[in-house]
Amino acid sequence: MDFQLSEEHRMAQKMVRDFAAKEVIPVIQEWDSKQEMAPHFLPRMGELGIMGINIPVKYGGQGFDYITLGLVCEELEYADSSLRVVMSVHMGLNSMAVLQWGTEDQKQRFLVPQAKGEKVAAFGLTEPDAGSDVAAMTATAVKDGNEYILNGEKMWISLATKADHTLVVCRTDMNADKPTSGMTAFMVENARDGVTSGDIHGKLGVRAGSTGWVNMQDVRIPEENRIGEEGEGFKISMSCLDNGRYTVAAGATGLIKASLDASVKYAQERKTFGVQIAEHQLIQQKIAHMHRDHEMAQLLYLKAGWKKNLGERNTRETSLAKWFATEASFNAASEAVQIHGAYGYSDEYPVERFLRNSKGAVIYEGTNEIHQLVQAAYAFGWRKDRPLRKELPAFDPDVWQE
Ligand code: CAA
Repeated sequence: MDFQLSEEHRMAQKMVRDFAAKEVIPVIQEWDSKQEMAPHFLPRMGELGIMGINIPVKYGGQGFDYITLGLVCEELEYADSSLRVVMSVHMGLNSMAVLQWGTEDQKQRFLVPQAKGEKVAAFGLTEPDAGSDVAAMTATAVKDGNEYILNGEKMWISLATKADHTLVVCRTDMNADKPTSGMTAFMVENARDGVTSGDIHGKLGVRAGSTGWVNMQDVRIPEENRIGEEGEGFKISMSCLDNGRYTVAAGATGLIKASLDASVKYAQERKTFGVQIAEHQLIQQKIAHMHRDHEMAQLLYLKAGWKKNLGERNTRETSLAKWFATEASFNAASEAVQIHGAYGYSDEYPVERFLRNSKGAVIYEGTNEIHQLVQAAYAFGWRKDRPLRKELPAFDPDVWQE
């Protein structure tokens, strides 16, 4: 076992840390207040290679491993959750699915421009009445010659109005014997006739991010845009979530660190009863909890990333990492507000934004209630991972850098 990060890991980490410190942190509060995504963030992340960080060079990426993806997400969410959400959907829920399930033609058409940051990618699974219960979805795709006609509405879609490509899951077999069968995944170009989208405003957090809805009205797409086989949509969406949840776990780890650093700084500036509040043991206890949780969250996501590098299924590890890190980041942000007292309750300090942002991640990409059910099912032996037709490819530095 080796706890050292490689030189490549540290290089990528530093690159994102510098970007966040110089270009994001100084302006993020302003964009959060405006409830808009800064228009230059996506192009800039593309220029820096972040949008394809762990995609092989031959598919337009930077050729780093899956651990690097986690480290990048940790650094991005240290600055603001909205930037990590970009990686969750563009990379975790979409690009990695094309890497895993896509044909060579799909990799050339979709993955290459996405990894280069020329096209932005989103993921359309959730519907107005189907969130945790994925199998309750009603969007349909009906075969017509060598095309499919898609109809339905997807809701709570990150980057809905920014994306060029959306990986959507629709029902193709209305008479499937199991609710999780009969669904199929498709890559939809958002510019196609019949696709409309809009933003959702008034969210509690991730206000500098983009969240919306996507409507599909008789959208015709060629069968070459189908990802995987008919009926594989549920499994593909779950495999996408194994990657999306990994980025959420890593990002939440960064949010714990942001809450910790802000609290350590403030506790050494603010005085009460004639001493720095850092001198008070109840403040020290909160700081110690944040540090403990940061270390534990990091270990959990790094273990999941290590399994990804080996090409091993990591559904259980990723779900655990996501559950732990997001719950811990919510607690850390809440305690950071408490340490800052009344100032923490205002946007004069970033911790109120951390608290608002942290709440989203205990809800999206599987509520933490779902993750507890998944963990219990593994513990009882009710849940077993069966081999998939196509697994996420193991990281091979020679192949990735080719
Ligand atoms: N990878 C591949 N296949 C998987 C899998 C995985 N991780 N998990 C399950 N499967 C397979 C199973 O092997 C099984 O296959 P067979 O039919 O061949 O046996 C099949 O899928 C059905 O699996 P389950 O029986 O486990 O399904 P379930 O109905 O018991 O459980 C659930 C489902 C865990 C509740 C699941 O529906 C779930 O995770 N729900 C949460 C959904 C979610 O996270 N939504 C977030 C939306 S995206 C988002 O929020 C992003 C954004 O833009 C903000």
